Amino acid sequence: MKKIKILHKSFSKPISCLATYSPSIAKILDGKIDLILVGDSLGSTVYGMKNTQGVTMDMMKNHGAAVNKVIKKSLKVLDMPYKTYDSKIDGYKNAKILLNYCKPDLLKIEISEKNLVVLKYLVDKKINVISHIGVTPQSYKNFNKIKVLGRTYKEKKNLLKLAKESETLGAKAILLECVTVDTAKLITENVSIPTIGIGASRYCDGQVLVFDDLINLSTNNKKPRFVKNYFNFNKIASNVVERYNREVKLKKFPSNKFSYN
Ligand code: KIV
Repeated sequence: MKKIKILHKSFSKPISCLATYSPSIAKILDGKIDLILVGDSLGSTVYGMKNTQGVTMDMMKNHGAAVNKVIKKSLKVLDMPYKTYDSKIDGYKNAKILLNYCKPDLLKIEISEKNLVVLKYLVDKKINVISHIGVTPQSYKNFNKIKVLGRTYKEKKNLLKLAKESETLGAKAILLECVTVDTAKLITENVSIPTIGIGASRYCDGQVLVFDDLINLSTNNKKPRFVKNYFNFNKIASNVVERYNREVKLKKFPSNKFSYN
């Protein structure tokens, strides 16, 4: 696949990735960042769910296909939703559905010691997979229970093992979520595939954030420490809506300019 070369560790600059679920945003992102992820964070970001466990194949198919249509340059990554890869057979069946319907360049799955066999199976079937390790949100019903990993020696050792196993089994990259600086550095220095971090320090080979968080559009009031707001869209949009409302009430809109004769 021509564009997968971006995912080489030797790629000169850190890899940039943003998660989005809407074609209009994806069109803005396309070509400006390396990877566009249709993440299952859409459960909370778009559908107001408390966690990602309620995200369905249909949701991922619809958003994935809509976003796919507008992306011409960036690499396309799609999350496999909760419980769709519990076994290698299910994983392959659902991966094929998503690949056929949404045409992503890579699929991302949340990996633990228990489902490495699924990763291997998908790779053996020539599917490009990103292994998501560290905090894996699909394992949490209650996001308040999420805590940073890698603070203890045992956690650090286990995560390094999982990262190395992911590499050996053929993952194209590792997504590291909410791990300590030391852990991210250790893993990044010890695997030859790129690490892409969210809340995982500048030592990763790349970074990912959710686009809505970047522009303060998210409805989530409790922002994780790793979120940086670059722009307050919330504030600007509120002003615009208030102006529109005022003009409608005052019958200033629509003026002749916006009407047909
Ligand atoms: O679903 C998602 O948006 C993710 C994050 C890591 C960005 O997996």
